[in-house]
Amino acid sequence: MEQTILLATLLDHTIAYDSPDARRIAHLVKVHGYARAIGVLEGLDANTLLILEASAIVHDIGIKVCEEKYEGKSSGKLQELEGPPIARELLAKLHKFSPAVIDRVAFLVGHHHTYTDIQGLDYQILIESDFLVNLQEKPTPKETFRKVYEEIFCTESGKRFFRNMFANEL
Ligand SMILES: [Fe+2]
Repeated sequence: MEQTILLATLLDHTIAYDSPDARRIAHLVKVHGYARAIGVLEGLDANTLLILEASAIVHDIGIKVCEEKYEGKSSGKLQELEGPPIARELLAKLHKFSPAVIDRVAFLVGHHHTYTDIQGLDYQILIESDFLVNLQEKPTPKETFRKVYEEIFCTESGKRFFRNMFANEL
């Protein structure tokens, strides 16, 4: 229960940070929803689930600063650079996340566009959840769906979500 309140408070702060960008807010809420469901279905322990959920909420936190700093540009690499310090600050402000959790969330925010050497279920599920949402939101060539499914998706629940969502594209 305490974990649920903490994550809802983090969500509250992140929505305020991204205000008034309703699209960006909807994106992170969707990614968090899939990440939580996949994490629970895959049997993550409470601490890993907390890390996964917190990182899903703040995974794109670097975009806003990137757009301000680099004239509207926010490539994956720039986001990975700018996101971690902001994520750290946001989590630290709530005074409830341990330094180890903050470190891992910052690492995940800094690697969420890096698909080589994905280590850990928190990392894997964050990537899968972001793909599920990005494939819904962004026009994507049909051949990319199978490639992403085969090369990125690993968890049984994530793969099932993918098949059920994109049956027409596979
Ligand atoms: Fe994202």
